Amino acid sequence: MPENSPRSTLSVTDNRTGRQYELDVLDGNVVRAMDLRQIKVSDGDFGMMAYDPGFTNTAFTTSRVTDVDGGRGVLEYRGYPIEQLAERSTFLEVAYLLLKGELPTQAQLDGFVRGVTFHTYVHENVLTLIKGFRYDAHAMGMMISLVAALSTFYPEAKDVDDADSRAAQINRLVAKMPTLAALTYRHHRGLPYIYPENELSYPANFLNMLFRIGGRDYRPNPVLERALDVLFILHADHEQNCSTTAMRVIGSSRADPFSAMAGAMAALYGPLHGGANEAVLRMLSEIGHTGNIPAFMESVRKGERRLMGFGHRVYKAYDPRASIIKRTAEDVFAVTGRNPLLDVALELEKIALQEEYFVKRHLYPNVDFYSGLIYQAMGFPVELFPVLFAIPRTVGWLAQWEEMVQDPEQRIARPRQVFKGCEPRDYVPVESR
Ligand code: CMC
Repeated sequence: MPENSPRSTLSVTDNRTGRQYELDVLDGNVVRAMDLRQIKVSDGDFGMMAYDPGFTNTAFTTSRVTDVDGGRGVLEYRGYPIEQLAERSTFLEVAYLLLKGELPTQAQLDGFVRGVTFHTYVHENVLTLIKGFRYDAHAMGMMISLVAALSTFYPEAKDVDDADSRAAQINRLVAKMPTLAALTYRHHRGLPYIYPENELSYPANFLNMLFRIGGRDYRPNPVLERALDVLFILHADHEQNCSTTAMRVIGSSRADPFSAMAGAMAALYGPLHGGANEAVLRMLSEIGHTGNIPAFMESVRKGERRLMGFGHRVYKAYDPRASIIKRTAEDVFAVTGRNPLLDVALELEKIALQEEYFVKRHLYPNVDFYSGLIYQAMGFPVELFPVLFAIPRTVGWLAQWEEMVQDPEQRIARPRQVFKGCEPRDYVPVESR
């Protein structure tokens, strides 16, 4: 952290020994955890550690990719507000921005789009792998396996210190995720696989691979194509969340990016993270209509249920992505017709924004609360929802991985523990226990 001021310090008095310590304060409010280790009661003492389950107050890395100001409800990719990017950019331009740090010139963007488009096909053996899954296999389970399997198709990906190799794997992953996602959907439906159409835009090609039946004249509705692109922009990165941390942790052992990303996807799959969009839709379907809301809310207040799609570790204000998604939903419903569960969602939000339980805990709708309603209206099955999160988040995972691989301060991720188990004891043979 070169920006630190040498005069900014924190004085600590150890009341066990009466000794005083001066710890450097970096970047305004950060102390190095390793500086605590000098605080000891005796020479043989291990030294002080910080205990932080869930990393609630631990900065694991410095980063220049994405900034979230949870108190003000602000999200910026490389300094650009999410609202401006969602309004004026495209997903692939945002991908370039996140991966390379700056918005591209037209020539740079054309080159990047060409590079991604060149890699949209997958090896034919991947189709054999897909055929091994049951017809009802969950799309995320298949995706995680397929991305891990891709590492065996590109063994050179192991060379994570080679910048050219890293760039090639990044292009491959960004390009192939929609193809893999569409294959899982077609497998589930028992439909023939559709190959990528590289003259289409990134979202249009994806929609084509999913929904085209028969001839080659399928063209997605431009409003839905744009809505999907906006949703991809909103999901592209979110700094050090659970799955990105998994990506960085696995990547820190110098695993190839396909293996690391399979781990990140597994983290995303959980219902508290990227699986929440699926959980929200299941919850809204279960509630069914507004008349059932009071009973549901009562179970949330009692702590028996969670209102899925609400709450966030970082946002203590309205998630800016949720506001944009709510507006996008109107555009989509104008084409597809209104999702009847929207009324349930709007009523839940109205109640939650007024009720003490939610207000006191700063629980606002997050990105997943309204996204599922759009996805459902567009014809995506519920089990594809986390996959629709994983496709754009691929860019964030890879931007953060690229940053981590080049960061000289990063070492293998290996936290400490506070051991509370048994004192040393002798093995007892089974007949004597
Ligand atoms: N419904 C009801 N109560 C909640 C909720 C919720 N959705 N979220 C948090 N709380 C309560 C929680 O019970 C706790 O109450 P108390 O202080 O009385 O014990 C308090 O709020 C703090 O919650 P927490 O679980 O300690 O907060 P966290 O920062 O560890 O968890 C969260 C954040 C997102 C996992 C959590 O809010 C949650 O489970 N939300 C529902 C799942 C969800 O929508 N996840 C998507 C997150 S956004 C997309 C992404 O990036 O993954």
